[in-house]
Amino acid sequence: MIHDLATRLLYGFEPETSHRLGLLGLKAGLGPRQLRRDPAILKTSLAGLDLPNPVGLAAGFDKNAEAPDALLAAGFGLVECGAVTPRAQDGKPKPRIFRLAEDRAVINRMGFPNQGLDLFRSRLQARMGRSGVVGVNLGANLDSEDRVSDYVTCLRELQDLAQFFTVNVSSPNTPGLRTLQSSGALDDLLSAVAAVGAKAPVFLKIAPDIDDAEADVMVAAITRHKLDGIIISNTSITRPESLVSDKMGEGGGLSGPPIFARSTELVRVFRKAAGPEMAIIGVGGVACADTAYAKIRAGANAIQVYTGLVYEGPGLVQRIKRGLAERLQVDGFASVAEAVGAE
Ligand code: FNR
Repeated sequence: MIHDLATRLLYGFEPETSHRLGLLGLKAGLGPRQLRRDPAILKTSLAGLDLPNPVGLAAGFDKNAEAPDALLAAGFGLVECGAVTPRAQDGKPKPRIFRLAEDRAVINRMGFPNQGLDLFRSRLQARMGRSGVVGVNLGANLDSEDRVSDYVTCLRELQDLAQFFTVNVSSPNTPGLRTLQSSGALDDLLSAVAAVGAKAPVFLKIAPDIDDAEADVMVAAITRHKLDGIIISNTSITRPESLVSDKMGEGGGLSGPPIFARSTELVRVFRKAAGPEMAIIGVGGVACADTAYAKIRAGANAIQVYTGLVYEGPGLVQRIKRGLAERLQVDGFASVAEAVGAE
């Protein structure tokens, strides 16, 4: 596919440059375009949202909501933009994205670089009325004195402009952010978020580095504050022994196949703790149809990808969807929903 070839050419650039060029290409309308509808077997729903397929784009790829429609047109069933913070910020010094090629993985320490809430809002306003499920990953400014209020501000300002929102307390590159996952802080945060009264579903996104034992407390907090579900997971600060790339020592969050096992195990743990109703999005190390299907069978209603795209190109979305439809049929499922948690 021509776009996968383009991805290979872009691979020759420094990672952040190649990402920027890819996004500019998408904005210019040069991205892939799916002409046919998805097969009916892939249709599903997530926290009341109708999805043409369960394959989503994870947060951090389109940080400033520059190309959500081009990404939807490429075949994603949902696209999560952001993280957005109230004020524009530069993030950490470059270089801050590292390819661990031998591991098909990435380490990033971006630190939420983004153009800020105002520009983000105007881009979402400009696409109002268009179809497709676009979500917003909510973050907090690095120098914020009141992080809870950063999440609340972004949610309040954007609540009518997107189809779902993610409270991201799991990025490892904003010091102290992940402490918002601990029970007291999480309760305060989710209570403030719930008080906004947004009509669109709100998810909590967690790190893969938590203990299984924390699942019950988190599920209870999500339920208590009537959030709609959970995204499992963000990048990891661990460095599994399987890593071989010389970049493994870089600081930041690890993504890609090396975090697949743990993030999928957490999907399983949370599905068990939450029961069948809560929406779960599985993300971390999906690089083919088999890994996408494994997350669904472990309990995910939908999945997201990021690092897989770096190595495989945008054709990955079609390959995952084709493979998923085949596997569902072979296993005798009439829909994605039937396979959720079926293992
Ligand atoms: C991310 N990710 C991320 N997550 C998030 O909630 N907010 C963000 O702003 C970002 N930014 C970001 C930048 C870069 C360069 C990468 C590689 C990742 C995490 C991402 O959404 C996803 O949770 C993880 O990367 C795991 O999925 P993959 O990459 O293994 O498919």
